[in-house]
Amino acid sequence: MSKIIVLATTNKNKIIEFKNILEGFKVEIRSVSEFGPIPSALEDGLTFDENAYKKAYNTARILGLPAIADDSGLVVPALNGEPGVFSARYAGENASDAENTRKLLEKLKGQKDRRAYFKCVLSLAVPSGPALTYEGQCNGIITEEIRGQGGFGYDPVFLFQEYGKTFAELSLQEKNVISHRGKALAEFKSEINKVIKWLEQRLLEEKPQKPDHSQFSHNDWSTS
Ligand code: IMP
Repeated sequence: MSKIIVLATTNKNKIIEFKNILEGFKVEIRSVSEFGPIPSALEDGLTFDENAYKKAYNTARILGLPAIADDSGLVVPALNGEPGVFSARYAGENASDAENTRKLLEKLKGQKDRRAYFKCVLSLAVPSGPALTYEGQCNGIITEEIRGQGGFGYDPVFLFQEYGKTFAELSLQEKNVISHRGKALAEFKSEINKVIKWLEQRLLEEKPQKPDHSQFSHNDWSTS
């Protein structure tokens, strides 16, 4: 029986990315949406680590299965770390990527120190709470104007200096090799055999719990 890890996101690109990475390993990635709606975690943490863990643990606890979640964003030291955990809603609750980016450029007007980095944290949690964490970071410079058509979020203003291009000017393949998310996923993948052992151990130690909503049980993590 293969082992199930629930991916605590409905983002199709992330699901494809994870399934790709774990191809060939005895792990089956399932999207949380395959289980039906569950209450979402409040992303009110002050760090990416906190929010990634909140999302992973919330899903693991409710479904009674190991769950993985990621949280990422842009950090600008000259702005005291903004937009940080507020990256998706920098210019307001339902702000578009263009509005968030415009606010960032406004705030950096006249600023000489334009260093920035993207950070991504992956958290893998079991229903009783313990978790593993993987991180990736990519350093760059915020441009004065948008450049490039690809990507999303702050990609058009994030200059990757080694290539002399913004993330929006790179192909997805090029970006995945150097990006914060790509690096966190690569770290997770390089550790996957340890991760599987850790999960098996945690789930053996856990008292069987009655999942709140799930049709699946811990037997899905049997080592057979
Ligand atoms: P999430 O945690 O992956 O949903 O990302 C939160 C926000 O951070 C996104 O809405 C973007 O504004 C920003 N962000 C994260 N990763 C990237 C990236 O690779 N490029 C551009 N923006 C990003």
